[in-house]
Amino acid sequence: PDFRHIGNRLLEWYRNNARDLPFRQTKDPYKIWICEIVFQQTRISQGLNHYNNFIKRFPDVKTLAEAEENEVLLYWKGLGYYSRAINIHTAAQQIMDDYQGIFPSQYEDILKLKGVGKYTAAAVSSICFGGKMPAVDGNFYRVLSRLFADDFDVSNSRAFTYFSELAALIMPENVGDFNQAMMDVGSEICKPKNPLCGECPVNDDCLAFSLQKTSDYPVKSKK
Ligand code: ADE
Repeated sequence: PDFRHIGNRLLEWYRNNARDLPFRQTKDPYKIWICEIVFQQTRISQGLNHYNNFIKRFPDVKTLAEAEENEVLLYWKGLGYYSRAINIHTAAQQIMDDYQGIFPSQYEDILKLKGVGKYTAAAVSSICFGGKMPAVDGNFYRVLSRLFADDFDVSNSRAFTYFSELAALIMPENVGDFNQAMMDVGSEICKPKNPLCGECPVNDDCLAFSLQKTSDYPVKSKK
């Protein structure tokens, strides 16, 4: 079967309903990288001031690379997971040393940066450079497992690969917007508890919704 229309519906929804966020006014890979590192583990409402202040003080790779680690940590204060701050500082120096200060455009190169995993590399390469990798995170696990009423255990070490392949079935051409549509639908509509299925742009296609079993997904054996 062809599931492509699902991705297109998500895109259309995103064009009309995207959250208005400061990092959505730009395709500067430096800013998108910082926002992905901040907001993968911190809610938007909790981290937005930190993000804005950080970008104001460290507007580009060079400024960040040349800063003292203590000052970078100071700007991270309150966000938690301080290794993220130390890693982005190290990665900025890596970009100066290995890429003449120019943010790398290839997924494989972005992935080599300190602290950057597959999710972040996929997000930056798709949003900024037209890369074609799905940015699979907890939102993807939840939305996809519900759409397909799929029992694959998200705590299985192969879950990332499994859900990447599932994402590829619905993915449209514009993967950057698709990834961000999945993030927005995942956090605003397809919530872990009490999802707002009545507002979902793909509720017609959602097997879990039609079976009234959204609370059974995603399947997670370990906490
Ligand atoms: N969380 C992490 N990255 C995000 C993005 N690009 N848009 C919305 N939420 C996000």
